[in-house]
Amino acid sequence: MHMSAPRKNSKQSRSKSGVNGVESLIRLALKRHRTPFMLIRRSVLEKQYRRFRKCLPDVIPFYAIKANPHPGVIKTFIKLGTSFDVASAPEMKQVLALGASPQKIIFANTIKTPEDIAFARRRRVKLMTFDNEPELYKLAKYFPGAHVLVRIKVDNQGSVVALSLKFGADQEQAFFFLRKAKSLGLVPAGVSFHVGSQATNVENYLQAIEIAEEIFEEAKENGFPLKILDIGGGFPIQHFDNEIGINFERMGSQVRRELKRRFDKNVKFIAEPGRFLVGPAGILVTQVIGRTFRNNKNYYYLNDGIYTDFSGMVFDHCRYEFKTLRRGQKFLSTLAGPTCDSFDTLSENCEIPELYVNDVIYVKNIGAYSCASATAGFNGFPPAKIIMV
Ligand SMILES: Cc1ncc(COP(=O)(O)O)c(C=O)c1O
Repeated sequence: MHMSAPRKNSKQSRSKSGVNGVESLIRLALKRHRTPFMLIRRSVLEKQYRRFRKCLPDVIPFYAIKANPHPGVIKTFIKLGTSFDVASAPEMKQVLALGASPQKIIFANTIKTPEDIAFARRRRVKLMTFDNEPELYKLAKYFPGAHVLVRIKVDNQGSVVALSLKFGADQEQAFFFLRKAKSLGLVPAGVSFHVGSQATNVENYLQAIEIAEEIFEEAKENGFPLKILDIGGGFPIQHFDNEIGINFERMGSQVRRELKRRFDKNVKFIAEPGRFLVGPAGILVTQVIGRTFRNNKNYYYLNDGIYTDFSGMVFDHCRYEFKTLRRGQKFLSTLAGPTCDSFDTLSENCEIPELYVNDVIYVKNIGAYSCASATAGFNGFPPAKIIMV
């Protein structure tokens, strides 16, 4: 976990985050819906999309739907003109069914089943990534003529979720793989990388861009100029109101300058942002279903937990800021989910006012890698209902 520590300054946090607006939205929703629910604000999806486009105008965003595949989210992005990154045939089917065009999809999982490759061929989703030679034989067999980007292994240092442990060809292999792709009847289209998710270290992007440039040069010298550079996802968001050290605009402008400096105008830049586009739009609203006093602390049991919408604490290594609608003196408390498992504990040192059964605890910036990885109903507890607002 490399997230910077939150600073405490509640006055500043309230005015900056528009806490009253968020809380009136929650109060309104509570009148109509049972908890747990997750509000996804379309206005924030749109705002994040515009921020991305403004900061990286030459980079086409392919929203990585794994972050949050809710149809309302996908439809909002289709309306905005976004392209999509999918990891499997079911994800591809979903975005196509909602109206995305096959030319606006990248199949960005370097390991694919033959069935999924054949599906991509039938639905004319041509662009895909790979990072190893056996995969090329599979692609050539099930989708001759597919356009392929070699995904390279790059430094993930400083990113909360490392991805290079499992993916990425060595830089030295990249050109060989692209040449092999060509000889097998595929179209070697370019290079891709992913610096890891919640990447706060811009150096990873800058280094990866430099490596990609070298591969582009090598391919050009050997007679097949590449056309696409895919800079992946990773763009970070703030999870806490007063978190420091996350500045997308500063990072984005450094990336933009570097792309401009190292590549000529014919190269098309794309990216696969997930968290950045959807994370800030989500507000999870839960209620206290039980309370007790143990280990010298208040314990509050909520109707959502680790197995459902807080699954990001496990799979996304994420920490969240728990907020209440009550004000007043704060006490060190423990928050836990509803299942019969001690692992289902959300925080052992949360400072919150005293709460009662039915009181609300909510979390902002939880739209990514939360409901997406929730189980269907471990112990019979369902995940939050998603409400687009
Ligand atoms: C291949 C690929 N692309 C894009 C993403 C989205 O990354 P992020 O949510 O950090 O932007 C991921 C996340 O795991 C990924 O594996």
